[in-house]
Amino acid sequence: MSGLATPLDPAQDRPSRAPSCIFVIFGAGGDLTRRKLVPALHNLAIQGLLPACFALLGVDRMDFTDQAFREHLDREIREFVGGELDDTRWRELLARSHYLRGDFLQMETYQRLATRLGGLNLELDCAGNDLFYLATPPRFFGEIAPRLAQAGLTSEEGGYWRRLIIEKPFGHDLESARALNRILHECMREDQIYRIDHYLGKETVQNILAYRFANSTVEPIWNHRYIDHVQITVAESLGVENRASYYEEAGALRDMVPNHLLALLAVIAMEPPNSFGADEVRDEQSKVLRAIQPLSPEEVLTHSVRGQYGPGILPDGTRVPGYRQEPGIAADSRTETYAALRLQIDSWRWAGVPFYLRTGKRLPGRFTEIMVEYRQAPTALFRRAVKHRVSPNRLTLRIQPNEGIGLSFNAKVPGPSPRLGVVEMDFSYADYFGSRPHTGYETLLYDCMNGDATLFKRADHIEVGWEIVEPVLDVWQALPPRDFPNYAAGTWGPEAGERLLRSDGRSWRPCSLCEGG
Ligand code: BG6
Repeated sequence: MSGLATPLDPAQDRPSRAPSCIFVIFGAGGDLTRRKLVPALHNLAIQGLLPACFALLGVDRMDFTDQAFREHLDREIREFVGGELDDTRWRELLARSHYLRGDFLQMETYQRLATRLGGLNLELDCAGNDLFYLATPPRFFGEIAPRLAQAGLTSEEGGYWRRLIIEKPFGHDLESARALNRILHECMREDQIYRIDHYLGKETVQNILAYRFANSTVEPIWNHRYIDHVQITVAESLGVENRASYYEEAGALRDMVPNHLLALLAVIAMEPPNSFGADEVRDEQSKVLRAIQPLSPEEVLTHSVRGQYGPGILPDGTRVPGYRQEPGIAADSRTETYAALRLQIDSWRWAGVPFYLRTGKRLPGRFTEIMVEYRQAPTALFRRAVKHRVSPNRLTLRIQPNEGIGLSFNAKVPGPSPRLGVVEMDFSYADYFGSRPHTGYETLLYDCMNGDATLFKRADHIEVGWEIVEPVLDVWQALPPRDFPNYAAGTWGPEAGERLLRSDGRSWRPCSLCEGG
């Protein structure tokens, strides 16, 4: 359902059902399963996109029977479905849900799994296709894949497909990411591996491709001759929540930049692909990521900023503790909760155009936005009409919330004197196309069932992502921060984040449509 290469039902000109398969979730008792995966399956079912022959098989260590597993899912679903629950479809899905208790590290789990899959395929008369989703802590990725292979569960010899989905973190640094890729490649071919970056499942991210490549007015000016700079912001108002042990090790840079922010950058900056085939699109993304100039240690000092939130007040008046006061966080923690970078793409299209990236927790609002600022029009004509400068045109691609596209331009203020004012043209996806219940995983699961890997990351994307951030991680590691905490919760991050742009004569564009903006 990447929307760009979706199989259509020829009779009705709408997406057709995915091919039959059994969907196996390792970690079926966990958070991802109940919050995202099962609600997404429900939403696919109500859109008529789940395979006609389909079963869900949960694997975990909890002591569930099939019935107890169904009751567990039934208790959780309403909260996370993102819309109305369709009772009939939900009952059908529950009836197709099964459970296998097992230890992920024991080979006998996989032997029982193979027998169970064989039995279910026979009983349901399914085609024999199996999709394995690793909704487990990342330490199991390199353990489960080889055991699946050893049990013969990654072999496609019988003419059916076997696919594996994993989700970030893909390693902790370049070396561990390479090691994980090596293990996976020993177990299966690259085209059987679907690495999820849930940002690529967001409808508006996919719409950026449509906006860029389906409109003849956009591409001709999408380059260094017309664009001054690009800002990519992923702001969160939440703090570290209950993820202290993961976050203390990761920090904002590892958690968000090599994956989500670079995925957004690649979609914005890639060259037009020859087609929307998975490899054509991903080759272009890989090329543009490889063209990002690695930062030298000196550049890390001037082109990167880190921050950690202290206690503060959110825009709704709630007082919140600082990062170091959160449960499970060290009282002298050096982990960053804010990161900003200035990157440069060494390509014909983007020569001299800075890309500013920032992300942080406990900022005043939750919003993800890409802002493209065009070069200024020559001002001479309007010298008398404006006091300072003619405002540049700004294109804002809003990913969340209020998904849409905004364009600011100059217009004449009515009246006898020649005055200019900035006006906004705004398009909201929900107003035009309505909205339907979604968790952000529907497209990705459906695409994987259809063998469309366009929105999934390839091994080379993961590695180049780490290559880009590793010089920053190295310098940050060698020079511990001396000023943490350096921003109050509920503010837009450390002062150095503002200076990063100010020293180039620019400033972050405040979020226009979110609280606290
Ligand atoms: C996850 C990060 O990948 O993305 C989290 O680990 C972050 O720290 C989340 O909160 C943000 O995703 P979204 O979809 O809420 O913007």
